[in-house]
Amino acid sequence: MTSTPIPAPDAPEPHSGPDPALADEGLAKGPLIPPSKAASGEPMIAIDGVSKWYGAFQVLTDCTTRVSKGEVVVVCGPSGSGKSTLIKCVNALEPFQKGQISVDGTKVKDRSTNLPKLRSRVGMVFQHFELFPHLSITDNLTIAQRKVLGRSGEDAKRRGLDLLARVGLSAHAEKFPGQLSGGQQQRVAIARALAMNPVVMLFDEPTSALDPEMVGEVLDVMVELARDGMTMMVVTHEMGFARKVADRVIFMDRGEIVEDATKDDFFGQPRSPRAQQFLSKILSH
Ligand SMILES: Nc1ncnc2c1ncn2[C@@H]1O[C@H](COP(=O)(O)OP(=O)(O)OP(=O)(O)O)[C@@H](O)[C@H]1O
Ligand SMILES: [Mg+2]
Repeated sequence: MTSTPIPAPDAPEPHSGPDPALADEGLAKGPLIPPSKAASGEPMIAIDGVSKWYGAFQVLTDCTTRVSKGEVVVVCGPSGSGKSTLIKCVNALEPFQKGQISVDGTKVKDRSTNLPKLRSRVGMVFQHFELFPHLSITDNLTIAQRKVLGRSGEDAKRRGLDLLARVGLSAHAEKFPGQLSGGQQQRVAIARALAMNPVVMLFDEPTSALDPEMVGEVLDVMVELARDGMTMMVVTHEMGFARKVADRVIFMDRGEIVEDATKDDFFGQPRSPRAQQFLSKILSH
């Protein structure tokens, strides 16, 4: 008796043409975000006199800055200076004891503020991609749109897949995060954040966990986003990115904003010795 052999469960499916596993079209042409009707230059993030303590340890000291609509602000500084803490305060992932932060006019520290709603308008991309490992890329892109914004499955999928195409990863829609490279996962994480139609995007060292050859593909998406007019606060030591698209650079040290300068001033003019020392170290790498 003859029987049809049963393929091993992990055998690759037969296919013709290029291997879809390798399909990565890179950043597609076209805007990543819809054109905004609001005028640029309006304050989108206002940080006023923010101080924060972990027990007796003061992690942020009287931090004040503004990020206008469409502005790209790079935050840099030595390890432990409070960069992550400051941007986590912006979308209320960390509480703070003194001062106030407003995002698009909504006060972060206010009993009447609906924090889940506020967070849905603030896209956040971390060093580690934080995709749900047990969900497909499509489900990762749609779950918050459905659960937080109440979009229909169809609408959420359309928006998610459109953004996946923009970041060049349409061929990977049905895969799981573990089947993608680090750079591809980070591009999915950016697409997922954009699917929520955020008014600002916060990035915390989005490329620092990536192999060097994948840094460029993620920065390309961020550069495009900046050029499309997204308001961005980006913790990064990628000074090439800062030079290319930042409007301002904030330098933090020991919980304080030590420098808050235009890009040209930060890179070109005399500044605090601490920032100088920091810059000379990272630029010599
Ligand atoms: N949950 C916590 N409890 C106590 N201290 C903390 C906590 N989280 C951070 N810190 C401390 O607060 C300071 C600032 O941390 P933060 O992570 O904001 O720094 P960072 O500038 O982002 O550093 P890195 O460049 O290493 O990411 C550090 O001294 C850190 O040890
Ligand atoms: Mg950090």
